[in-house]
Amino acid sequence: MTTETGSAIEVRNATDDDWPHIVKLDSFNFGGHIADLKSGITRELAPNDNVIVATNGGQVVGVTMHYDLQITVPGGALIDLPGVTWVSVAPTHRRRGILRTLLTEQHQRFLESGAPMSILTASEGGIYGRFGYGPITTEFTHKFDRRFAAFRSTTVDPGGVRLAAKDEAEEFLPPIYDRWRRQRAGAVGRPAAYWRGVFADPESERGGASALFFLLHDDGFVSYRVRESADSGMSLEIVDMFAVTPEAYIALWRTLGGLDLMSTITVSESRDMLLPYLLKDPRLPRLTGSHDLLWARILDVPGVLRARSYACELDVTIEVVDDFLDRGGVFRLTSRGNGGNAQCVPAEEPARLTIGIGDLASIYFGEHRAVTLAQAGRISAPDPEILERFDHAFTTSAAPRGGMFF
Ligand SMILES: CC(C)(COP(=O)(O)OP(=O)(O)OC[C@H]1O[C@@H](n2cnc3c(N)ncnc32)[C@H](O)[C@@H]1OP(=O)(O)O)[C@@H](O)C(=O)NCCC(=O)NCCS
Repeated sequence: MTTETGSAIEVRNATDDDWPHIVKLDSFNFGGHIADLKSGITRELAPNDNVIVATNGGQVVGVTMHYDLQITVPGGALIDLPGVTWVSVAPTHRRRGILRTLLTEQHQRFLESGAPMSILTASEGGIYGRFGYGPITTEFTHKFDRRFAAFRSTTVDPGGVRLAAKDEAEEFLPPIYDRWRRQRAGAVGRPAAYWRGVFADPESERGGASALFFLLHDDGFVSYRVRESADSGMSLEIVDMFAVTPEAYIALWRTLGGLDLMSTITVSESRDMLLPYLLKDPRLPRLTGSHDLLWARILDVPGVLRARSYACELDVTIEVVDDFLDRGGVFRLTSRGNGGNAQCVPAEEPARLTIGIGDLASIYFGEHRAVTLAQAGRISAPDPEILERFDHAFTTSAAPRGGMFF
């Protein structure tokens, strides 16, 4: 490919010498100086083979890379997959196709490696749909005044929470998180290097708040920061809260509720957050924002559709449309429901339902519904019964949750 001035853009794997330039590029593009600690951890998670750069006249003007990750799909199967990250193109070289060139090269490599799916977190919602990605998990941020939070009499404190120092947190948090993520669709396993970044807790990542505090239960944990202001005193901002059992979740909230000097608490959770059901005033946790966390791109349609379980019996022929990588086609998906295995094979017969590959990812994890996408004109299914059954089959008992930003 060439630039407007005719000079060539070269696309190749990164070398060690490229890294200072990659760090500079991402620092400018994401508006923050990237610390050595973070770039060191990134290099561990993304060895040079996982990093593709675009150069112009010897200068790095674009980059994309991936971490080797694992995600849980509905029904509990674990899928190894690449997580795309650090995507950026120099502001001097925008909108001339460098991102498209980089992602084409990167995704061709994913296909060659046999990856069934790829994921990412998006800086903007308008970029990745054209590359076949769809949003698969949403975080809902709530804020409330802890001083008005009274628990219902049904919210009995199961106890078992301890105040943990960092060394105890380092030992216990990763295995608890690992248990949690294996039972939650959409959750991504956190590599050891990622945890090292969490516990390093550099001042540059604190946004002016305190270092991390940790509350620990055998089946769950909370990490949070405290922010002080002249107006509202001390407010508590939850960074991570994961509980394997409802008892652990309740015990952690009862303990947070006991932090008398804290005014407000801010927390982000999935759509099916339990907290309002624990309080006398369920309106107290006020939704202050919501945003997508993970996006997924299906690379192997039948493989991925076979990997999850379905809520009901299903036998439908679907057409999947993929303008970016041409991995679509017509497939017959059959399942007996009740968590049993599904079959999915290429089919010759006419499709009863047509869906874009990004929208298929969105409904696959249970966060978005086929009926909603059909109402929006994004799924075509002339027979309403087929649509309803398809929609029901993809529902999940718990809302999906990503668990890891990268
Ligand atoms: C987003 C970014 C990587 C795009 O790079 P680029 O080389 O200018 O993109 P391209 O010219 O290859 O554009 C590819 C397509 O994406 C579209 N696009 C690019 N940036 C977009 C944006 N911010 N919002 C919506 N669409 C965008 C282009 O219009 C083009 O569409 P088309 O091919 O369907 O016509 C670049 O603007 C950037 O570095 N932004 C800051 C960092 C960032 O947000 N990175 C993404 C991290 S998840």
